[in-house]
Amino acid sequence: MPLDSPAPIAPYPRHGSNSGQPLTRRDGELKVTGRATYAADNHPADLLYAVTAVSSIARGRVTALDVAAAKAHPGVVEVFTPANRPPLAHDPDVKLGMFGFRIEVLQDDGVRYVNQPIALVVAETLEAAVEGAALLNQQYEAQPARTGLDDGERYAPAAVGVGAPAHTAYGDLDAGFAAADQIVETDITTPAQFHNAMEPHSVVAQWDGDDHLTLDMGNQALVMSRDAYAVYFGIPAQNVLIRSPFLGGGFGSKAILNGPQILAILAARQLKRPVKLALSRAQMYGPVGHRGRTWQRLRLGLDGEGRITALHHQSTAATSSFEDFLEPAASASLHAYASPAILAETQGLRLDTGTPGPMRAPGEASGSAALEVAIDAAADACGMDPLEFRLLNYAETEPGTGRPYSSKALRECYSEGAKRFGWAGRPLQPRQMRDENGMLVGWGMGTALFPCPHFPAEARATLRADGTALVETAGVDMGQGAWTALAQIAAEALGLDPEQVEFRSGVSDLPDAGVAGGSGHTASAGLALHNAGEDAIARLAELAGADPASPLFGAGNIGVVARAGRLHRRDDEGRSESYADILARTGKSMVVGTGRMARDDAAAQAWAMYSNGAVFAEVKVDPDLGVVRVTRLVGAFAAGRIINPRLVRSQYYGGMIWGLSFALHEAAQTDRRTGRIMNADLSEYRVPVNADVPSVEAILVPEEDRYVNPLGIKGVGEIGVTGTVGAIANAVRHATGVRVSRFPIRIEDLL
Ligand code: MOS
Repeated sequence: MPLDSPAPIAPYPRHGSNSGQPLTRRDGELKVTGRATYAADNHPADLLYAVTAVSSIARGRVTALDVAAAKAHPGVVEVFTPANRPPLAHDPDVKLGMFGFRIEVLQDDGVRYVNQPIALVVAETLEAAVEGAALLNQQYEAQPARTGLDDGERYAPAAVGVGAPAHTAYGDLDAGFAAADQIVETDITTPAQFHNAMEPHSVVAQWDGDDHLTLDMGNQALVMSRDAYAVYFGIPAQNVLIRSPFLGGGFGSKAILNGPQILAILAARQLKRPVKLALSRAQMYGPVGHRGRTWQRLRLGLDGEGRITALHHQSTAATSSFEDFLEPAASASLHAYASPAILAETQGLRLDTGTPGPMRAPGEASGSAALEVAIDAAADACGMDPLEFRLLNYAETEPGTGRPYSSKALRECYSEGAKRFGWAGRPLQPRQMRDENGMLVGWGMGTALFPCPHFPAEARATLRADGTALVETAGVDMGQGAWTALAQIAAEALGLDPEQVEFRSGVSDLPDAGVAGGSGHTASAGLALHNAGEDAIARLAELAGADPASPLFGAGNIGVVARAGRLHRRDDEGRSESYADILARTGKSMVVGTGRMARDDAAAQAWAMYSNGAVFAEVKVDPDLGVVRVTRLVGAFAAGRIINPRLVRSQYYGGMIWGLSFALHEAAQTDRRTGRIMNADLSEYRVPVNADVPSVEAILVPEEDRYVNPLGIKGVGEIGVTGTVGAIANAVRHATGVRVSRFPIRIEDLL
């Protein structure tokens, strides 16, 4: 892939020494040499292995389990079923906080989806546990599985996503449609998609007595999860330690507690030995979340000039029979384009499926996929170039609320991306371009957009006697490069080189860094680290300023500048002293600073905050066979201050590749007779491999944001998914003339 196009980086107004550098990943060498230790790589002494037996029906109840046969198998130590499952301190049928879903932990003999745990077999070896589970010979009383729109139970939800409104209306929709010259309707369905992290969900659970618990597990939200486990097991939060130094992919699925892991922890407590559990690939298709299916309809009213007069986005979103996570797809239409009237509404649909959850740009991905196709159809109906149409309907302020944007360099993203892609001169009509082999060529685009959520976070920075620093926060590097970018932020605040800063993270007894999710980890944990660094410097300056032997004596009111391991008088930078000298003379071995990120609610209310981008796609379609190849993707993104352009580009590439995956590959196929997922494996559930991924380019458009947070950092993790899906579908339409109505796009839809 020709990936490294040089791109300008936004200068940051106040700082600029360390951040902005394209440092390589701190954990990169450990990972590529196989020395990174993942949860299931831990083998404490006396370890037992746990395996879940899972349901093969989608709805009904378990009527028989041959526990005696399983227990008689050599090596099997215990079999847990609803009959002997040890008690929990929190009712698993009751939601526990925002991310605390109802979970199945053998609380009854009911079956609510395929691959639901129905027993846990614990043995001396993994093989014995697997064989024991196979001997259970479970019998069921099965009811018909509810698998789709026609047999699911519809309901009006209280919320979508994690607590977002299910119904949002701005302006007068009827008046908007009445004023329209034409109305364009678009129907899009999106499938169930599974996170499919390379590292399966696993845990090694060790109890010390009955009330101290250590967990090795991949986890996106260490302190939040620690607190939740404490509630489930009825012990103080400080008695739970979660270690998650490395994470082999999370994508949202490792921020939420799940049944199999809780069962393994229960087993370890009951058996008084460490227990390891790792789900098989197939077992990940059920109890650990997925992106829920949607059926979306968009109606756009358009006036004679091509302006949107009304925008109605209706979505039906699938969830399980027992929990309410609904993909917030319709919300994507609330903040993308100007319209005097917008209605976004979601209907729930109960199916016999595992509960969906957040996955790679939850809501925004599915919703913008449908919206961007609808926008393309609208441009088409107006006889306009899709970019021209988007510029005509550009939202100068947040639609509906009228709030100003904290920053929005989307116009620049459009123009930079279009220029790099070569959009100018694109024929308006479809089926106009062919390559030298006779393949139909199409160009399409989509707007990328993602909000900027932040999580409360804390951090600690310690300046040590030798002039180096230790910075600590319970953050998570799940592949995005957090360790590196966060260390850069801390180093900058401390006036040190990143090499002089030791970064500790990935353990739950460090200061809470919030959730590695929502594309908000760098901003949240980064702000806390920045503040901790500044606090440490302020304390050091206080020591020096009060010391008559220091060249900085009396600098208190004037202030100091921290740079290259020295404090300098602000008004006379020639007067300076090194951190090590200050500490040595004052007889201190260290100075400790602390910092918090707490969002300024008034600012968060006053400004509309989004990362923005534009994605351009080229596809080639075989006119006889309908085979689609994406040949080029160009994304231009503006996301405030860029801490590490190398890592950020990598995030954009990843996002765009997932977008390609959404457009052309991913879908779980449910057997309507049984409710079983027929492709619960990585050979039949398709994700893109290298040969599917074309030239991908990411342009980093400079953007300065003075309001989103004091460092001006927005999010980059998920936005790449959002514009890409629509861009590819629209390119397929441009190549073939076929407007698709479902994802992924299939050959049979193009013939
Ligand atoms: Mo995510 S779906 O923000 O981990």
